[in-house]
Amino acid sequence: MRNTMELLRSPTFLSSSSFALSSVPPSFSVGGTKRRLMVLCSSEKSEKEDKMTVSVTGATGFIGRRLVHRLRSDNHSIRVLTRSKSKAELIFPAKDFPGIVIAEEGEWRDCIQGSTAVVNLAGLPISTRWSPEIKKEIKDSRVRVTSKVVESINNSPVDARPTVLVSATAVGYYGASETGVFDEKSPSGNDYLSEVCREWEGTALKANKDVRVALIRIGVVLGKDGGALAMMIPFFQMFAGGPLGSGQQWFSWIHVDDLVNLIYEALTKPSYQGVINGTAPNPVRLGEMCQQLGSVLGRPSWLPVPDFALKALLGEGATVVLEGQKVLPVRAKELGFEFKYKYVKDALRAIMQ
Ligand SMILES: NC(=O)c1ccc[n+]([C@@H]2O[C@H](COP(=O)([O-])OP(=O)(O)OC[C@H]3O[C@@H](n4cnc5c(N)ncnc54)[C@H](OP(=O)(O)O)[C@@H]3O)[C@@H](O)[C@H]2O)c1
Repeated sequence: MRNTMELLRSPTFLSSSSFALSSVPPSFSVGGTKRRLMVLCSSEKSEKEDKMTVSVTGATGFIGRRLVHRLRSDNHSIRVLTRSKSKAELIFPAKDFPGIVIAEEGEWRDCIQGSTAVVNLAGLPISTRWSPEIKKEIKDSRVRVTSKVVESINNSPVDARPTVLVSATAVGYYGASETGVFDEKSPSGNDYLSEVCREWEGTALKANKDVRVALIRIGVVLGKDGGALAMMIPFFQMFAGGPLGSGQQWFSWIHVDDLVNLIYEALTKPSYQGVINGTAPNPVRLGEMCQQLGSVLGRPSWLPVPDFALKALLGEGATVVLEGQKVLPVRAKELGFEFKYKYVKDALRAIMQ
């Protein structure tokens, strides 16, 4: 008889008629229909043992949605761990995502148990006004979700325990600087965002020693339908596309497709372990980023967007673009990761086309 992990990894585990129900099976939304998690009691061999079952927190977000598409295109099974089933079902409709499992918090543990891997992307967005309550929630949401994920992994029976946790963190770990250059060995900064990242990473590292943990310190992610670009473009158009703030700040960016590929590699390759910077090899100063964006959008780049305008709208959340750091992807390069977008001009062109 196959062990539980093998059974849950099987692409057929939620639909085959050769299953027996366990005593109190949890329920999930599968393809829009409520089903019960079933434990397979069949000796039938899976044809696709290399296929993963990946539980993803924050799957409904900007990066998560792209990751789900990527995993699905390679026929992996996906379990969306969300706070809102109804929201997730709109993003991943059953007709387009047959077989996807969508689970709310009470069901996360049962989803994680039996997954081969977990990707942890959840957290309250940081590009907002930072009231004391929001600042607290920016940190707490990340630590709370990561803690829950790690606890569920650690409490899984050994033979049903995911073997890898890929957990998001951010280049904010290093603190802001106009002169420093940071790689994975650099120390942490001493501002609020570095404190958030340290706690976030520390929580993920509490996973059992038999679980491979990859911490992706993500830079500013560039993509069509979300993230910093969606926020920058309206400002940019309002102020005829000049630099944001002084323009001297470093902007360590990554194209969303490269980030999704990096997460994918981290899921599948045992050498991807520990901290890996998720940034492109050629960070730019924000002035150059704005100049390139202006040229791609066909707008002149001459009037600087004043700091106060950004801060008026975003409060301290504006620090995400107003105070950057130069971060290099040293580990990703050592691991042989191939960036599709090495230069911001190419990334922006691809996105704006
Ligand atoms: N985008 C970037 O440029 C960037 C840069 C550095 C680091 N990161 C990190 O990478 C992760 C994913 O980024 P993203 O841009 O895809 O984020 P996003 O679009 O804001 O999505 C994050 C997801 O987290 C969940 N979430 C939101 N508020 C939450 C709360 N209060 N408590 C628990 N969960 C909450 C939501 O999922 P449900 O509603 O389904 O629960 C949401 O879809 C984030 O942790 C972010 O900090 C992103």
